[in-house]
Amino acid sequence: MNNTTMQAAQQQSYGLDTEVVRCPIPTVGEHEVLVKVAAAGVDRGTWHLMTGLPYMTRLVTGLFKPRKKTPGRDLAGTVEQIGSQVTDFAVGDEVLGIGSGAFAEYAVARERKLVAKPTNLDMEQAAALATSGLTAWQALHTHGKVRPGQRVLILGASGGVGTFAVQIARAAGAEVTGVCSASKAELVSSLGAQHVLDYRKDHIDGTFDLIIDCGGHSPIARLRSLTQPGGTVVLVGSEERGSVIGVGRQIRAAMLSPFVNQRLVMMIATEKREDLEALVGLVRSGDVVPAVGRTFPLEAVSDALGHLADGHAMGKVVVRVSETAEMQAHEGQEAQA
Ligand SMILES: NC(=O)c1ccc[n+]([C@@H]2O[C@H](COP(=O)([O-])OP(=O)(O)OC[C@H]3O[C@@H](n4cnc5c(N)ncnc54)[C@H](OP(=O)(O)O)[C@@H]3O)[C@@H](O)[C@H]2O)c1
Repeated sequence: MNNTTMQAAQQQSYGLDTEVVRCPIPTVGEHEVLVKVAAAGVDRGTWHLMTGLPYMTRLVTGLFKPRKKTPGRDLAGTVEQIGSQVTDFAVGDEVLGIGSGAFAEYAVARERKLVAKPTNLDMEQAAALATSGLTAWQALHTHGKVRPGQRVLILGASGGVGTFAVQIARAAGAEVTGVCSASKAELVSSLGAQHVLDYRKDHIDGTFDLIIDCGGHSPIARLRSLTQPGGTVVLVGSEERGSVIGVGRQIRAAMLSPFVNQRLVMMIATEKREDLEALVGLVRSGDVVPAVGRTFPLEAVSDALGHLADGHAMGKVVVRVSETAEMQAHEGQEAQA
């Protein structure tokens, strides 16, 4: 690599404003990998880190302004350089996973946060996988203990986490009902949901063995009324703007759980490599395909995050970092659609 500088989207203060600037390429530690980023995924966690909201976040990210200027975590690209102790990857390998400063031409990731990119995904799909896919996987398997034949309800089935949850639940042999807005019913159905309900007009009938709640901010009592005795509700999240802590409903549910006949689970997704490998296994077999919705160029990181924050993104939002021929073709198709 002859260059020592790169283009990166940077923020100077909390919020969504970013500017693309030229800055030094980051250096790798001994267990780290430098990735030439092709595409970067956008997720709610990145929004929280960029805005410093809820305020608790700032205890970690910096009290008055973000310590890290280049945001972005999910990425897909090609290994450019490896640290002295890296054994799993070599220069030129195509990878996906979670790094630091992904809204840039080059980003550093720990070796154990990356996996080989399956050949049946393009770079945009690969960039969309890690955080939301892991969240859905852990909601269903780690916390929900999903089993074949169970009736699973997914609230927010058209969003970043929900589109993965529908596919993972189907792959586990569950009967899936997805709840979303009418305009996204076709997408949710195409992902494998046997029943699709419009949250603005349809009544949700019956009770479920497992509810994965990723949208709509339903009251806990409502979620319980839809759950079988002995069933489980996994509260992945829904937005509580302006809150200091941001997970009040989840905490209340977890506190109530020991006293009721359903399991109410508050979850925080972890970046566990074995889970990412298991998810990639489902991608390789064709059971899971990331549902990429809108894509944005690096100059429009703020717009990408704003689109997600509006709360009605279709599937995953992705930032195209280095424009490959594949991406230009995709952009052309989007423009025609
Ligand atoms: N616990 C964790 O570790 C963890 C990890 C990741 C994410 N999260 C949280 O999980 C939530 C979902 O994340 P995401 O990335 O999937 O967000 P997202 O992409 O914005 O998806 C949210 C979805 O909710 C749907 N929705 C809105 N109102 C609804 C309603 N009344 N009933 C049912 N669905 C409704 C929207 O669908 P329409 O567009 O069709 O209206 C949207 O597609 C967020 O709050 C996020 O912060 C938590």
